[in-house]
Amino acid sequence: MKRLVVGNLKSSLVSRGDRNDYVREFVDLFGDDIVSRVDVVVCPPSVYLESFIDVLSSHVSLGAQQIFWDDHVSRTGAVSPPVLRDFGVSYVIVGHSEQRAFMHVTKEDIQKQFLLALSFGMVPILCIGESRDEHQQGRSGDVLTQQLLDVFSSLVLSSDVQFVVAYEPVWAVGTDDVPSAESVSIARRSIQRFLCSQFGDDCLDRVSILYGGSVDAGRVASLCGESGVDGVLVGRASWNPQSFFDLVRAVSEL
Ligand code: PGA
Repeated sequence: MKRLVVGNLKSSLVSRGDRNDYVREFVDLFGDDIVSRVDVVVCPPSVYLESFIDVLSSHVSLGAQQIFWDDHVSRTGAVSPPVLRDFGVSYVIVGHSEQRAFMHVTKEDIQKQFLLALSFGMVPILCIGESRDEHQQGRSGDVLTQQLLDVFSSLVLSSDVQFVVAYEPVWAVGTDDVPSAESVSIARRSIQRFLCSQFGDDCLDRVSILYGGSVDAGRVASLCGESGVDGVLVGRASWNPQSFFDLVRAVSEL
């Protein structure tokens, strides 16, 4: 598997001008050969998904930041699963800590979103992570296992199903405070143990484990290279195409 870099643009493009500039610069930079050594996903704000169809290439896929938890046509404001599929969206972020905290998305909703993404042919990127208190109390492993159980305990998945788990400590998202490579590696191993016990050892050939939280080109060697994860989920460092590209280049050199 190639390393995977997912850019989460969140709500960073605040005007159509910003969006146009981003798409233009992104298309110029991400045509480079370096990008072919890494799998890249860009997740724009939902209202701009259609404009990003132009950035797709064999090495850059389109991701969505959210998906509604059912596909009924009478859901005011919902980001509809069939529309995401129709736009060519391949990946969907589910369970992000900002959605858990600010949009009150519950663990039941997250399980439904995960399943719905799969049933519409998209790869869910399941975000899990502990709070600062839980980290300081040494409870990170238990919290991660519980969040995985919340999604997987009652699921029977086919043996070729593809998904991504992103370890995103809540205290590292948007803060510039990052865990050590050793601490990311411990989290990676506990996620791997869980997945292997649930789905068998070969699931690691098709399930990527990412790290997310204050990643940039300077920190990626430690947070991704040394920790042994399969890639990174990036917020702020993807909000400018040049810094996103620098990060992808740094990952291609790991
Ligand atoms: P950050 O965001 O890189 O800005 O910390 C990461 C995320 O929210 O996925």
